[in-house]
Amino acid sequence: MIEYKGLSALDDGWVIAETAFDARFLGKFETIFCQGNGYLGLRAATEESYPSEKRNLFVAGSFNRFANQEVTELPNAADMVQLEIRLNGKRFHLEKGIIHSYRRELDLRQGEIRRDILWEDEQGDLFKMSFLRFVSLHDRHLMGMRVEITPLSNTAEISICSGINGQKTNSGAQHFVEGERRVFDKELLQLTATTTESKIEFVHTCARRIYERGVRLITAPAPSMDRRSVSLTYKLKAEVGKCITLDKVASVHTSLDKEWSEQGTVNHALQDTAREYLNKAAEKGFDRLLNENEQAWKSVWAKTNIEIKSSDSFDQLAIRFAQYHLLLMTPAHDSRFSVGAKGLTGEGYKGHVFWDTEIFILPYFLYMNPQTARKLVEYRYHTLNGARTKARDNGYRGAMYPWESAATGEEETPEWGPVDIVTGKPTFIWTGKIEQHITADVAYGVWHYYQATGDQEYMDRYGYEIIFETATFWASRLEWSDKEQKYHICDVIGPDEYKEHVSNNAFTNYMAYWNMTKAIECSRKLMQAQSDVYLTLESKLALTERLKEWEDKSKQIYLPQPDMHSFIIPQDDTYLNKQIIDLKKYRDQEQVASILADYSMTQLSEIQVSKQADILVLFYLLEDWFSKETKAANWHYYEPKTLHDSSLSLSTHSMLASDVNELELAYDMFAKAARIDLGTNMHSCDEGIHSASIGGIWKTAIMGFGGVRSWEGSLRLNSKLPQAWERLSFPLAWQGERLQVTVTRSKLEVERLTSGFGELTLLIHGREYVLRDRIVTDMKEAERSE
Ligand code: BGC
Repeated sequence: MIEYKGLSALDDGWVIAETAFDARFLGKFETIFCQGNGYLGLRAATEESYPSEKRNLFVAGSFNRFANQEVTELPNAADMVQLEIRLNGKRFHLEKGIIHSYRRELDLRQGEIRRDILWEDEQGDLFKMSFLRFVSLHDRHLMGMRVEITPLSNTAEISICSGINGQKTNSGAQHFVEGERRVFDKELLQLTATTTESKIEFVHTCARRIYERGVRLITAPAPSMDRRSVSLTYKLKAEVGKCITLDKVASVHTSLDKEWSEQGTVNHALQDTAREYLNKAAEKGFDRLLNENEQAWKSVWAKTNIEIKSSDSFDQLAIRFAQYHLLLMTPAHDSRFSVGAKGLTGEGYKGHVFWDTEIFILPYFLYMNPQTARKLVEYRYHTLNGARTKARDNGYRGAMYPWESAATGEEETPEWGPVDIVTGKPTFIWTGKIEQHITADVAYGVWHYYQATGDQEYMDRYGYEIIFETATFWASRLEWSDKEQKYHICDVIGPDEYKEHVSNNAFTNYMAYWNMTKAIECSRKLMQAQSDVYLTLESKLALTERLKEWEDKSKQIYLPQPDMHSFIIPQDDTYLNKQIIDLKKYRDQEQVASILADYSMTQLSEIQVSKQADILVLFYLLEDWFSKETKAANWHYYEPKTLHDSSLSLSTHSMLASDVNELELAYDMFAKAARIDLGTNMHSCDEGIHSASIGGIWKTAIMGFGGVRSWEGSLRLNSKLPQAWERLSFPLAWQGERLQVTVTRSKLEVERLTSGFGELTLLIHGREYVLRDRIVTDMKEAERSE
């Protein structure tokens, strides 16, 4: 029922198809076929409605808190794609009648969904139905849909009711106060609503036109209004073989849009503008709007196309699927917002931003589209004050970034989660209180951005301040141990969330140390230059004083070392002493987190079992701090104890397996990671796409097999192809230049696409090369020198 190809060979690597309708799997396709442009995210619910569907339309950054005791979330805007189609008086509904043929395709080339159905109703009348839908990449407020209905056996009465339905909620929470509803000229509808707490005005506008065999019909539709909804119903008689077409274009504008939030909306200005805008769009006509969208996607793919020649054609599709979703999830238009853990594809994680952004998603943009990467690192500056508030509220100094971030940078993690199987009560969610490594991860993202882009202006305006404030948080967070004569970090959760309330989680301690030493390095550099930036930051933050504290304390942070014989680094103070159990049942699971049906979180804390990669993430972020032996030994120790219950896990394991020359294992894990959302598990992404895992697909391909890393301002390429791959070719942005890297079994070629100033030094398989126009190296030689 899910096919990874289209109907023509030209579609290879671009098309995903749903080949049969099954209402049990609506969620799967709603998520993977989601459409959007970083501003809007439209879940791919079918035009006709089903009880188990989730109709979602999200606008990036439009958070609202439903009630005081709840955390803020992205509200579900009004639905404009649902249609009630009646054929001879009976509702078109695929659970009734006979489906003779069915196919829905997402074409990644243009982000369009087409659905073709041959359907026989309960009276035996046959209809051909086609649906086409896009969310414009050319114009972020806009979406369009076309419906074509052709009666094939008898003349039919066709009625189509469509409009704007603001009765949608987020699992029951209604985030909007009803505004105005109106029908203009029997063609254009508008519905406004304002979020209850954040007071963001949403303006939904849509217009439709109807055609018979391509000729526009001027039929007066019947208008109707209900609470929070407005619609128009067309009734027509269609003869056999004559196609009735309905084109609908719709738009969403909000008072949060930059142009409005800066000047504030006046009276009906937003509504009037939205109407004018949509009238113009409708005038252009569906085909032109569709074409504009197609051209916009075409130019995106022309710049970002990655080619994988693999014995499994799924690999090529998977990387494009990842790129498609990375574009959809990222609000590249506005740095006040960032990427939610489910992007804009579902209610899961409420639109909140996690470490997923810096560690799993940012790298894609750093190396593919640095302008967008800049937006993501600016977001953390916009939310710096919120992070300062969190530090202060918790008795610390500096900036303590929230585990779950939304509009302000204050903590938004909910406190209560799923049922505890021992107590029967909800489980307390500790991450918002003690998963603190996020603060160093944010600083790391800032530094990584700077290294890959050389964007000094960003650092001067925003980046240094983030690094200094986060280092100050750590300085205030460290706890002195008289016994060990070292600073410890106690009572935290590391990346492995199956271990709560641990002390000296290696990942956290090393990253805190990295953060503080980076602050020392940056402040010394600024001090030496005595630049304006230094003077501003000195007067704002009292840098000289802070520097002394960072220097004194960082020297004494406890950094767990690899064991002399086994090279194992303890994940935390107690992990290695915990019980080891047989995890086979859980590692072979169909659905993730099956262990939580047998053990409570408290019980899990007593077992050597990990939810996801923990120490291993460190080996990739701080790769030169650990030896190859240490990386390999820890991979082999911790992986068998890991259930990969977080979608962030497999991609990290795959990349690290590449680093330690376990290429087939790396490929195996890439293949699994690439199937987390796109694979045949029909419920893995009901709540929305796994954004970090999507970023992880690109990482395993480009940073794993492509071997792309940056370390302190130098670009490294340590490419190795798994057996299944013959060729990998990808564009790469590096410090203002654009490169094209092509790896085959025999050679690695780097071509410079821009003619920047001077030479570029690269480290390829450990050897330094100077890039002028092109470098070609021998892969076999590289293998021998390994
Ligand atoms: C993972 C976290 C991740 C979060 C959001 C959790 O299940 O353990 O590492 O940040 O999901 O994706």
